[in-house]
Amino acid sequence: MASAPGVCVCRLRRKNLPLLYNRVMRVLVGVSGGIAAYKAAELVRALQRQSAEVRVVMTAAAQRFVQPLTFAALTGHRVYAGLWDEPSPDDAAPGQSGIDHIAEAQWADALVVAPATANILAKFAHGIADDFLSTLYLAVTAPVLVAPAMNVNMWHHPATQANLEILRQRGVRVVEPGTGGLACGMVGAGRMAEPESIAAVVLSALHHRRDFAGETVLVTAGGTREAIDPVRFLGNGSSGKMGYALADAAQSRGASVILVSGPTALYAPARCELVKVTTAEEMRAAVLERAAGATLVIKAAAVADYRPLAVSGHKLRREGPLTLELTPTEDILAEVVRRRRPGQLIVGFAAETENQMENGRAKLLRKGADAIVVNNAAGEHVGIDSDTNAATFLTPTTAIELPLMPKRQLADRILDEILALRRPRPVVIELDGREVPQTRNQADERARVQEEETIAAARARRRLIVE
Ligand code: CTP
Repeated sequence: MASAPGVCVCRLRRKNLPLLYNRVMRVLVGVSGGIAAYKAAELVRALQRQSAEVRVVMTAAAQRFVQPLTFAALTGHRVYAGLWDEPSPDDAAPGQSGIDHIAEAQWADALVVAPATANILAKFAHGIADDFLSTLYLAVTAPVLVAPAMNVNMWHHPATQANLEILRQRGVRVVEPGTGGLACGMVGAGRMAEPESIAAVVLSALHHRRDFAGETVLVTAGGTREAIDPVRFLGNGSSGKMGYALADAAQSRGASVILVSGPTALYAPARCELVKVTTAEEMRAAVLERAAGATLVIKAAAVADYRPLAVSGHKLRREGPLTLELTPTEDILAEVVRRRRPGQLIVGFAAETENQMENGRAKLLRKGADAIVVNNAAGEHVGIDSDTNAATFLTPTTAIELPLMPKRQLADRILDEILALRRPRPVVIELDGREVPQTRNQADERARVQEEETIAAARARRRLIVE
C-alpha cells in the first residue's frame, strides 16, 4: 500500500476480524464541513480497529477544517473531494484515480457521514447532487448512516428536523447528537456522537442481524420524577442512553419495540412505539398495560424508589429546615415478574455503588427476573449519563463480564446474552466417557475460538489473493 510522501501508514493489528460475507467490511466515511470534522479521523481509526477497510470522501467545506492528507495517511487511500478532481501527487494511492463516485458507491458496504452538517442533510433529503459526496449518496445502495453535528438552533430548526425525518423514513440511520457545550459557545443538542459510538452503530448496521425478528421488546428508559410542589421534583441523573441504545439495537435486529421513557433529551429510534411518562406511577401503568404483549421486557429505567407522600399545591417557601415525608413507589419489575406470561423473558438493571455482585445477585433473586445487568453507578466512564458502560450480565447460574464499551455496543452484547437465555443450558459434553456440564461461558469461549480460527483462515486466504 503506497503512503503519502513523508507519512508512515502503519498496518493496524487486526484482531477478531469481523468479516462481511467472507471479506473485510468496507466503510466509506463522508466528512462534511463542521468543527467536528477533526473527530472523523478518530472515527476512521475506530472503524479500522474493528478491522474495516475505510475510505474517505470530503466536501469542500470539510477541507477547510481538516486536510485531506490526514485521511489519506490514515487510510492509505486517495481522499475524494471534487467530482472533477485530478489525483494530486500527495494522494496516497494516485494510481486509483480512475475510480469515480459510482465506483466508490458500489465499493462501500456502508456509508457513514460524520459530521453531517445541516447542509449535507438537506442535500441528501432533497436529492441535490452537486459535489462528490452528495452525488455518491444517490448512487449508494448500502446502508447509510449520518452523525449530525451543528449549532443547537440549527439542529432544532424545523427544516433540519423535517430533512432528518425524510431521511429516517428512507431508512437512513441517524446517530443522534449529544447534548452539551458546543463549539459556538452555546449549550444544547447538536454535538456529534462520540466516534466509538458511531463506529458501533456502523458495525451493527453492517452485521444486520435479524435475530430478534418476531420479538416484541418492551424497554423502559430514563429516570422518573416525583413532584414535591408545582416546580420541584425528586429525580435522578439518568440520561436514558442505555435504554435508548437497547431499543435501537433490538429494533435494528428485527424486533417490534415499545419504549416507555421518562423525561430525556434523546430522540427515540424511528418506528418504535414511544410512550412518554414522568412519574414512577405513570411508568408502572404504561408498562403493565403493555407488558402482556411483550416477549421480552428490559427494565433499564432508573425508577424513583420514593415519592413525597403529599405534593404541595403551591411552591414551597424557604422557611427554615424542611422535612419531606416519602412513601415507597411500587416495584414495577417485581410486578411484571408476578404477571409474567409463559415464555416471556424479563431483564432488570442494577446500578450499584458498592458490593456490586452481592447486591446484584440479591436483587436478581428478590425480583425474580431472568437476568440483571449490574453496573457500577459511581465509576469513571460508566453508568448514569456516560456514553460508555461496563456491566456484568447476571443470571441465577452465570455471571458474564461485559467490559467497557460504547453503550450502543453494550446494548448488542446484552441482547446477545438475552438471546442465549432462550437456548437450552447447560451444555453437556462427553469427556473420557464422563458427562461434563459446561457453563455458558465455557461454551461461548469454545465458539469464539472456533470463530477466530475461521476468521484467521479467511484472512490468510485474502492475504494470498491480495499479495
Ligand atoms: N425498578 C422498578 N420499579 C421500582 C424501582 C426499580 O421496576 N420502583 C427496577 C429498575 O428499572 C431496575 C431494577 O428494578 O431494572 C433495579 O432498580 P434499582 O433502583 O437498582 O433497585 P431497587 O429495586 O430500587 O433497590 P435499591 O434501590 O434498594 O437498590
